[in-house]
Amino acid sequence: MKPTVLLTGATGYIASHTWLALQAAGFSVVGVDDFSNSSPEVLKRLQVLSGQAPVFEQANVCDAAAVEAILARHKVDACVHFAAFKAVGESTAQPLAYYANNLGGLLTVCAALQRHGARRFVFSSSATVYGQPERLPLHEDAALSATNPYGQTKLMGEQILRDLGHADAAWQTACLRYFNPVGAHESGRIGEDPRGTPNNLMPYVAQVAVGRRPELSVYGNDYPTPDGTGVRDYIHVVDLAEGHVAALRRLFDSPGSFTVNLGTGNGCSVLDVVAAFAKASGRPVPYRILGRRPGDVAACWADPSLARALLGWSARHDLARMCEDSWRWQSMNPQGFTS
Ligand code: UD1
Repeated sequence: MKPTVLLTGATGYIASHTWLALQAAGFSVVGVDDFSNSSPEVLKRLQVLSGQAPVFEQANVCDAAAVEAILARHKVDACVHFAAFKAVGESTAQPLAYYANNLGGLLTVCAALQRHGARRFVFSSSATVYGQPERLPLHEDAALSATNPYGQTKLMGEQILRDLGHADAAWQTACLRYFNPVGAHESGRIGEDPRGTPNNLMPYVAQVAVGRRPELSVYGNDYPTPDGTGVRDYIHVVDLAEGHVAALRRLFDSPGSFTVNLGTGNGCSVLDVVAAFAKASGRPVPYRILGRRPGDVAACWADPSLARALLGWSARHDLARMCEDSWRWQSMNPQGFTS
């Protein structure tokens, strides 16, 4: 019997890639999303890519009755929980919405899983929990802090899951701290499709290259980094998706819970990304240097050694490949899923 995974936020950017990776690894998937930040078109694309009709339920994970009904209809063995809001600026403006949705959804899903005896749980955390890094690379035991409500919801989410594991050893949880997910499936059929103006670097660069936006604003070139622009650990979304599969396998194969970084261990600057994207796309990426973005850190990259040791997983794709795959997605779908 194939184990069945409840995948929340299933039609989002990282989750849709994880859906394919889970199926390729032999898991059955029950996807849940309310399309508040994703498109139903994703399901059609997944069907083409996987050759099977997606099992999908449209629901908001804060709706306890809806989640209960889904678990009554589908017997699941584990959950990979993506459903959450993720915009830092918006979280500062609307803290109640962020706490209600991100923590309310987590609590509702965990309570329902508990009632149904499914206690293996993978949580989308973020490198944002390291706040202002004191030392690089970032190891999992580095100091934790949050500078905005979004980051707080990730810190609190991790704490809730640790408390659950302490209360009941049958709960096995994996907190995955993502660095900067970019790229797209190699088919170019699914990828990142932000609503409105992208907050993150790679989708913005891709929209400049495809002609949707005139130029990139580079937020600061006076950081203590080799070229003065911010340095991040960009990780291909397909590598990240496979990290979820590795984490889930570990929960099935070994007792206990864990928290692990999913990054490459390499730092790239904003100007490195601009140059790599211009090369991959064959298009110019005009940019203008502006002041620093409030809340940004100078540099942030992972120590990925725990993931390698614990999960036998490490990232395979380099920045050139991340840009090639982002470009394929962007150029095949210039207006995203509505193209
Ligand atoms: C951001 C969030 C982080 C969240 C992550 C999720 C902030 C401060 N941090 O991470 O909490 O977990 O997204 O995706 O929002 N940049 C530009 N021009 C742009 C956009 C970005 O120069 O138009 C620069 C930034 O200053 C930074 C780098 O590009 O140096 C990466 O930025 P971004 O993609 O937004 O990721 P993070 O800030 O690392």
